[in-house]
Amino acid sequence: MKYNIKVTKTQESRLSSMDFNNIPFGKVFSDHMFVTEYVDGEWKNPRIEPYGPITMNPAAMVFHYGQAIFEGMKASKYKDGTPMLLRPELHAERLNKSADRLCMPNIPEDLFLQGLHTLIELDQGWIPPQAGSALYIRPFMIATDEFIGVGASQSYKFIIMTGPVGPYYPKPIRLIAEQKYVRAINGGTGEAKAAGNYAGSLLPAKVAKEKGFDQVMWMDGHEFRYIQEVGTMNIFFVIDGKVITPAADGAILKGITRKCIIELLEEKGYDVEVRPLDIHEVVEAYENGKLEEIFGAGTAVVVAHISELGYKDKVMTLPAVEDRKIGPMIKKEIDNLRVGEIEDTRGWFVPAKAPAMAGA
Ligand SMILES: Cc1ncc(COP(=O)(O)O)c(C=O)c1O
Repeated sequence: MKYNIKVTKTQESRLSSMDFNNIPFGKVFSDHMFVTEYVDGEWKNPRIEPYGPITMNPAAMVFHYGQAIFEGMKASKYKDGTPMLLRPELHAERLNKSADRLCMPNIPEDLFLQGLHTLIELDQGWIPPQAGSALYIRPFMIATDEFIGVGASQSYKFIIMTGPVGPYYPKPIRLIAEQKYVRAINGGTGEAKAAGNYAGSLLPAKVAKEKGFDQVMWMDGHEFRYIQEVGTMNIFFVIDGKVITPAADGAILKGITRKCIIELLEEKGYDVEVRPLDIHEVVEAYENGKLEEIFGAGTAVVVAHISELGYKDKVMTLPAVEDRKIGPMIKKEIDNLRVGEIEDTRGWFVPAKAPAMAGA
């Protein structure tokens, strides 16, 4: 279905004042946003408008009961300048899964996609030209009923906003296997991209930093034994030539980068095991000299190499990045696919283009 998305362009684009060589991460937003409201059981008034503040009543339920979900994706430009999106339909699908878990309404996938395409085509000038840079895209949905009392809101707002981000040159990261706090347990909200999951991660992250680690590696909440994921990344281990990533068992976010990496590696003939991964297996592999790589995978970084993993009072040091095979190779492959440097034979990348409207 095609939606009639009203486009109101900004009178004063901020694009000319943008220095793409110095982009502070997460602080600059492009000219426009896509907005639609859910009222009386329907998404209404889908529109693009200038990016700016939104007015909310202090009683809006999102402030009190936390019905807030989001997505994170990126647009980049092919060598010929075409703005491209990576598997946007998977983000629409995941947003709706998050919505189901938080008792929020689904947004029709074609409305999500049409709003996204229209916005990115309009603001494509905000996609930084530098290699490795991208336009970060943040779709989100919040509860807007003015009501004090725990329950599902009847009205919601859905917004897509975007902002340029510079090239991400992540240093290898030091992780600590968390032994006290839990991100999620089966049956909780861990599989949803719910704002509250991130609020709950802040204190453990702070404690980990105080101990000299960069991030927490989450463990299962029953035995603190099975590995889950990291901050805003899923996690991969290479043990004796085999790639292992924890099974998405209901408590971890099913990352889209994770899915791409599994598919790419399988195509290349690697053995990828998606299964519960016990920290003791990792320790044993380390002691036998078979722990070859650990890397995180997510939209922001694509791949982040892990240099050290702390577990209880042990610190396991991984081989230097130059000596690793799989993490660096997969990062390069995805970065090259993103700019069209290598051909996308799988139809993962789609040009951002608003559909032509009848009579338009
Ligand atoms: C908790 C968590 N895990 C994993 C990921 C990686 O997911 P994706 O590859 O879809 O960005 C993210 C980022 O969205 C995240 O927030």
